[in-house]
Amino acid sequence: MGGVLQRARLQFAIHLRSIRGARVDFRFTEEQLMIQDVARRIAQEKIAPSAEHHDQTGEFPLANIRTLGENGLMGIEVPAEYGGAGMDPVSYVLAMIEIAAGDAAHSTIMSVNNSLFCNGILKNGTEEQKQLYVRAIAEGREIGAFALTEPQSGSDATAMRCKAIKQADGTYLINGKKSWITSGPVAKYIVLFAMTDPDKHARGITAFMIDTARAGFHRGKTEPKLGIRASATCEIEFADYVAQPDEVLGEEGHGFKIAMGVLDAGRIGIASQAIGIARAAYEATLTYVRDRKAFGAPIGTFQMTQAKIADMKCKLDAALLLTLRAAWLKGQDQRFTNEAAIAKLTASEAAMWITHQAVQIHGGMGYSKEMPLERYFRDAKITEIYEGTSEIQRLVIARNETGLR
Ligand code: CAA
Repeated sequence: MGGVLQRARLQFAIHLRSIRGARVDFRFTEEQLMIQDVARRIAQEKIAPSAEHHDQTGEFPLANIRTLGENGLMGIEVPAEYGGAGMDPVSYVLAMIEIAAGDAAHSTIMSVNNSLFCNGILKNGTEEQKQLYVRAIAEGREIGAFALTEPQSGSDATAMRCKAIKQADGTYLINGKKSWITSGPVAKYIVLFAMTDPDKHARGITAFMIDTARAGFHRGKTEPKLGIRASATCEIEFADYVAQPDEVLGEEGHGFKIAMGVLDAGRIGIASQAIGIARAAYEATLTYVRDRKAFGAPIGTFQMTQAKIADMKCKLDAALLLTLRAAWLKGQDQRFTNEAAIAKLTASEAAMWITHQAVQIHGGMGYSKEMPLERYFRDAKITEIYEGTSEIQRLVIARNETGLR
């Protein structure tokens, strides 16, 4: 009981600090500004100029991913001893926003490597697993992936059918299919979730480290997508894949909690991605409304445009502050499930709305492939779907707020 009260008091103090702003420090540290600057430079010099090409061809941007890795952006929160930049979650948010503003597909690959792959192993892996799997991914030499979703189980993740059956010698025989695997076509290692005890539902799920070079692992069809087209996505299949006991991540039966914890962090990454896409659309719109004239005046002087600009800015700033709050909490080693869901929901819906309005304000030019507005609009949509749909974020928030299930 004492523990519950103490936790409630702590939550309340955090609430006061982060909502009322009584003790909020809005300044970024020099390190945070430095990584933001590095990310912005790479985004502007290398990523944005080829974004249209990558969108049209769907070509995986391997050279740019290597550059991101060489500059510490593939393992921002990974300690230097495992090949990362050793920075905090706020730095991750700032860098993700810059890369997403350059091209959303690049930021998808970056977020899976950072949040879903490295973060999960750092939190739950053994020292050997950290050494073996994290370094190559954090340095951008290899690509990581996260396999939870299946053809018949998305939001209801416990309905998975992929099975890992323990053998007499202690190994696990894995069979089943996973779908919508970001970076699946190029990943060297994958964090896989499979049922080890179906009778136990959520408590019967175990996480495994998968080496895609090993027998029994197969890649299936790639997904043709509306947006983030340069981030490769495919089905993967396991046919009698043998996992060793030391390839279990965390403990047997703890896989669902690992997945949920990893997704909490992932949702901060997707919120940041949404902010980056929205900011790019907003900045293009500011330029356009100053330059474009109608009825003898810049369209930015018309009240209907002004209302849109004001609402875009409010939504963008709200999304940013909520995302920084979630990142700050994560950096304090506090539970941030609710704050991450609030940030992702707000930021992804803001990105969809802002890119929609940006296309509308640009009129024919917004609809044309000659400008990036239609790409921002297409790219924004996924942020309302992956790593938990907006409906799932609302469910998580409402459960946390009411205490009811
Ligand atoms: N952190 C730690 N543990 C958590 C947790 C969290 N955030 N959320 C739940 N748990 C624990 C619970 O405490 C519970 O533990 P006990 O068994 O000890 O009681 C256990 O997990 C089961 O929890 P629930 O009963 O709440 O589970 P549920 O079946 O009702 O599902 C859900 C909850 C929120 C709907 C969850 O299934 C969910 O988030 N679904 C969405 C899945 C998702 O985001 N998929 C995205 C796919 S990945 C992707 O998109 C990646 C990509 O390629 C980019």
